[in-house]
Amino acid sequence: MVPLLETIDEVRRAVAAARASGKVVGLVPTMGALHVGHLRLIERCRAEAGLVCVSIFVNPTQFGPNEDFARYPRTLDGDRRLCTEAGADLIFVPDVATMYPGGPDSTFVEVPGLTGILEGASRPGHFRGVATVVLKLFAIFAPDLAVFGAKDFQQQLVIRRLVADLNLPVAIRTVETVRAPDGLALSSRNRYLDPDQRRAATILSKALRLAAGAVAEGERRGDRVRQILRETIESESLARLDYAEVADAETLEPLDELMRGRRAVALLAVWIGTARLIDNAILSE
Ligand code: PAF
Repeated sequence: MVPLLETIDEVRRAVAAARASGKVVGLVPTMGALHVGHLRLIERCRAEAGLVCVSIFVNPTQFGPNEDFARYPRTLDGDRRLCTEAGADLIFVPDVATMYPGGPDSTFVEVPGLTGILEGASRPGHFRGVATVVLKLFAIFAPDLAVFGAKDFQQQLVIRRLVADLNLPVAIRTVETVRAPDGLALSSRNRYLDPDQRRAATILSKALRLAAGAVAEGERRGDRVRQILRETIESESLARLDYAEVADAETLEPLDELMRGRRAVALLAVWIGTARLIDNAILSE
């Protein structure tokens, strides 16, 4: 089984030994409750790195006071088996005091601009928590590359901005969303869905497919594409829309018009029961 490391010293020793033997160091940051989507991140990391590190830490600072921090699934034994199968070399499983020696309200990093909209508007403080913990992980591992999933589209943009703004020597890789055969994007939070809600949750990928289909057939009006997203979500009685947006895929600026040469992305956040699900699709390259 892949080793579990609890301290920063152990991580630094493992990373130093790998570097001394000329290995590239890769990091896959996670909050655990791993699924096939995470395995793809680990495999992507393995394609470039000689030392593949996974971190599992349910980061309290990225959850709002009424969010699901307490009930977020914690499945370390299963996670460890999956990481072993996927070929990870080590798993870092710090506790809160290790990650936040000064307490969770101590020093933080804020990435302006991208973080006040969409997920940032619905979940105030979320990206401050994400950016801070990812920066800490980068300080602990000093990885050459780090791998994130495209399902958290805004998150990977925030992290890219963080890396660029702070001149961090780490390459960011983003891996395609993995979907169930019926289209639902894999997510640790899918575990919150009962069978009816699980069926209803396919409405997100259906809405994105319809929006992408309309664009492929020539629709260029941002509002019309947003309307397709909204109306499709509203057609499912178990779904409650948080946001449906069509935006520039680099800046997340809402688009009035889809234009050739400007990558556009459709982004959704939808409540199904107590699960808040997000998904996205690139609409045009
Ligand atoms: O995407 C996640 O699982 C988390 O937001 C991350 C990047 C591991 C930070 O806690």
